[in-house]
Amino acid sequence: MENKLQEKLIKAAINARENAYVPYSEFAVGSAVLTKEGEIYTGCNIENISYSLTNCAERTAIFKAISEEKNTEIIAIAIVADTKHPCVPCGACRQVMIEFGGRDLKVLMANLSGDTLIKELDELFWGRVNEEILE
Ligand code: THU
Repeated sequence: MENKLQEKLIKAAINARENAYVPYSEFAVGSAVLTKEGEIYTGCNIENISYSLTNCAERTAIFKAISEEKNTEIIAIAIVADTKHPCVPCGACRQVMIEFGGRDLKVLMANLSGDTLIKELDELFWGRVNEEILE
C-alpha cells in the first residue's frame, strides 16, 4: 500500500474524530476504511448512556462502508486517538474487521503526534502488538 494512500486514510480518520460523540469517556476516536473499490468511508465513536451500546469508531466506519457498497471488502483501516502510543482496536472491532477484511487487512494505528504502527490484522489476533506497545 502506497505511503500517500496511508497518509490520506490517517488524515480522513483524524477529521472523522472531530465528530466523535463522547460525553461519557471524553475519549474521541476516528477511523477510516479503504474498500477494494478504492472508496474511503469514515467513522467516529458514538457513545450511549448505557455505555454497552457505544459504537467504536472502527465499527462505525466499517458499517458505513458495508451499508453503502454491497459485498465490498475492506483493504485497510486507520484508527486515530489522542494517545501516547498509536491507538489499538478492541477485540470486538477486530472480530468485525476479520468478517469484512480478512487476515491480511492492513491496520494503520496512529495518534495525534504522528506516531504510526502498521500491522496485518492476523498479527493483532495473537496479542503480539499489545506486547510491543506495553513493553
Ligand atoms: N473506542 C473506539 O472507538 N475505538 C478504539 O479502538 C478504542 C475504544 C471508544 C469506545 C468508547 O467510546 C471510548 O473509546 C472509550 O473506550
